[in-house]
Amino acid sequence: MLEIKNLTAGYGNGPDVIKNINLKVREGEIVTIIGPNGAGKSTILRSIFGLTSIRNGEINLSGENLVNQKTDQIIKHGVCYVPQGRSVFSTMTVEENLQMGAYILNDKKEIDGRLGKIYSRFPNLYAKRKCAAQNLSGGQQQMVSLGRALMLNPKLLLLDEPSIGLSPKLTMEVFENCRTIKKNGTSILIIEQNANIALQYTDHAYVLEMGENRLDGKGKELLKNKKVGKLYLGR
Ligand SMILES: Nc1ncnc2c1ncn2[C@@H]1O[C@H](COP(=O)(O)OP(=O)(O)O)[C@@H](O)[C@H]1O
Ligand SMILES: [Mg+2]
Repeated sequence: MLEIKNLTAGYGNGPDVIKNINLKVREGEIVTIIGPNGAGKSTILRSIFGLTSIRNGEINLSGENLVNQKTDQIIKHGVCYVPQGRSVFSTMTVEENLQMGAYILNDKKEIDGRLGKIYSRFPNLYAKRKCAAQNLSGGQQQMVSLGRALMLNPKLLLLDEPSIGLSPKLTMEVFENCRTIKKNGTSILIIEQNANIALQYTDHAYVLEMGENRLDGKGKELLKNKKVGKLYLGR
């Protein structure tokens, strides 16, 4: 559904940050990008979302070319993006945060319907719906930003290091949530530092180094790969 071909991009008039990147996300897949700091992982997600300067290549989503489209247009094509860092509205309640996710729909009935679906998939959010987001734990806040992105029913969800600052146990919960999201028809492209956990949950993974594709493969194959093991799994 998402196919990136020979993508080269940077910021403003600055140097190329990613070079000739190739990457695919198939319908119903969780795809992970791993790689060291500064490798250009976030730049790939920002490029898909229309936030970089694209110098070459293609980004196709279900046949639609996203290159040079504006972010609001890209959202309409079914892409949602959760940037790095906790991005909840801290003084608003969980429910208000979720409603904000769909404010562009401008249709209270529709928004309520989607809210109900999210609560039934993620009962923990329902239990906390009246709480101010700032009073939730890090893992719960992460769940709120995921839920908020899901309010638009995206075809493709872009997640930039959702587990940052979370324990391995909560990181696994984030990926369990990703599985639920995937079952409900949203494909996911996720950046994750904890390769050990990510590769267990992921259908396909890409290793990025210095702005270029290094290697890729099925999650479970990369778990067995010697080079990945040495560099990213602490073996
Ligand atoms: N807004 C920006 N403007 C200019 N350069 C940036 C910007 N964001 C990131 N960069 C540069 O792009 C490179 C890759 O960054 P990034 O994509 O954030 O890497 P990663 O997510 O893999 O850590 C870094 O060298 C960084 O300095
Ligand atoms: Mg990053």
